[in-house]
Amino acid sequence: MTDKTGFHIDVNGLKAVSAAYSMYIETYGCQMNVNDSEVVASILAREGYAVTQQMEQADLILINTCSVRENAEQRVRGRLDVFRMEKKKRPGLLVGVMGCMAERLKEQLLEEEKVVDLVVGPDAYRELPQLVRNAGTGQKAVNVLLSREETYADICPVRMDRNGVSSFVSITRGCNNRCAYCIVPYTRGTERSRSPETILDEVAGLVTAGYREVTLLGQNVDSYRWQNGHVVSFPRLLEKVAAVSSGLRVRFATSHPKDMTDEVLHVMAAHSNICKSIHLPVQSGSNRLLALMRRRYTREWYTDRIEAIRRILPGCGISTDIIAGFCTETEADHAETLSLMKQAQFDHAFMFKYSERPNTPAAAKMKDDVPEKVKSRRLQEIINLQGRLSAESKQRFIGKTTEVLAENVSRKSPDELSGRNSQNTVVVFPKKRYAPGEYVQVRITGCTPATLQGTAE
Ligand code: SAH
Ligand code: SF4
Ligand code: F3S
Repeated sequence: MTDKTGFHIDVNGLKAVSAAYSMYIETYGCQMNVNDSEVVASILAREGYAVTQQMEQADLILINTCSVRENAEQRVRGRLDVFRMEKKKRPGLLVGVMGCMAERLKEQLLEEEKVVDLVVGPDAYRELPQLVRNAGTGQKAVNVLLSREETYADICPVRMDRNGVSSFVSITRGCNNRCAYCIVPYTRGTERSRSPETILDEVAGLVTAGYREVTLLGQNVDSYRWQNGHVVSFPRLLEKVAAVSSGLRVRFATSHPKDMTDEVLHVMAAHSNICKSIHLPVQSGSNRLLALMRRRYTREWYTDRIEAIRRILPGCGISTDIIAGFCTETEADHAETLSLMKQAQFDHAFMFKYSERPNTPAAAKMKDDVPEKVKSRRLQEIINLQGRLSAESKQRFIGKTTEVLAENVSRKSPDELSGRNSQNTVVVFPKKRYAPGEYVQVRITGCTPATLQGTAE
């Protein structure tokens, strides 16, 4: 954040340091990238760089990128075209690409995109000050070394959220799962966990700064494991984070079905400030496809996990990710995905067409053989079904009262607040005397496909 005098307001306005330069950071991809951009803002703040929201004012533009699907990369290429125009107007401007696309393409990015001055992978952000200095002298700079240890544990991220209510805290980096379709293990490296002490310190700092919600982040949070004399597993970490403050809501993502234990569910049940919402990506309802995808669970295992959630945490929100048209997928496989969706009654889903990613196991060994038209049709069927399930999930709240953490003044009306309930559904209600950061009991009177509407009690 920069105020009008050019001072950089460090972490939540606690202290002000003078800023010599300004940087503009655009973030794509997952929540982990959002948190990484905050880490980068912190690393560069020490070099005198303050965050600006105006690209036209920036001395340095950074784009934090995602490679998970082809269209994620195309979006970034489109943005680089915009930065090229900006650089034509202001030749001194520096442009850096960070994140997963930087890791995947490395030097190739400098060759293909002349506008780019520096390329930095997810484990090399501590080198950014040096890379920026080199780029400033006209030397193109690249560092894409992956690390087995880096967790940026000691870095206090500069929060770039606008509301000061809800924030992300990374607890693991990387992934060891190597699902056949997925690029993440190659762009993020091996999985490593961050020490519980640094996580708890960061969470306590957020509470002091007025935050009311944290989301613990990792590609597979259930495999969190810290060993230093004693072992801290994910359920133990979750308990410790929940104990920091009863006024702080705790969320986490993502849970891998193969690792999600009843123990985690019991910890959630025992702490009223742990939100009753689980993101449990299924990808496919067909056992044949799940095996080809190397997900390491079966449909039966997955539905058993759903039943455990329903039993231990009645009313818990469940969301998922689904891929349509993975290699060799037949109509029968697709029908199994639709039937699993109905069985699980997901409240929300992120749905994608399979996109072959270079150098993944699937790209090396399998043919991307489902025609584009068939993929699109199957995806549409999945979207249509989820639309119905999502609507039913919202209708179940009508007439009930649900606790909402107010986060923002609604984009549509200054007289309305929006926030989420424990199940992670967005709720909009008249503002009255309430403000962002407050817990509000809202009686639900209606819904749209994406949100609940109600009145504060
Ligand atoms: N770690 C999480 C997911 C990370 S990627 C997990 O294991 O569930 C987020 C989602 O992107 C995945 O769940 C998957 O549905 C989707 N995805 C990943 N690679 C993809 C690809 N090549 N094509 C289409 N969707 C993909
Ligand atoms: Fe990708 Fe699988 Fe790791 Fe998730 S668990 S990030 S889908 S490899
Ligand atoms: Fe994308 Fe990398 Fe996240 S590929 S989904 S930004 S880990």
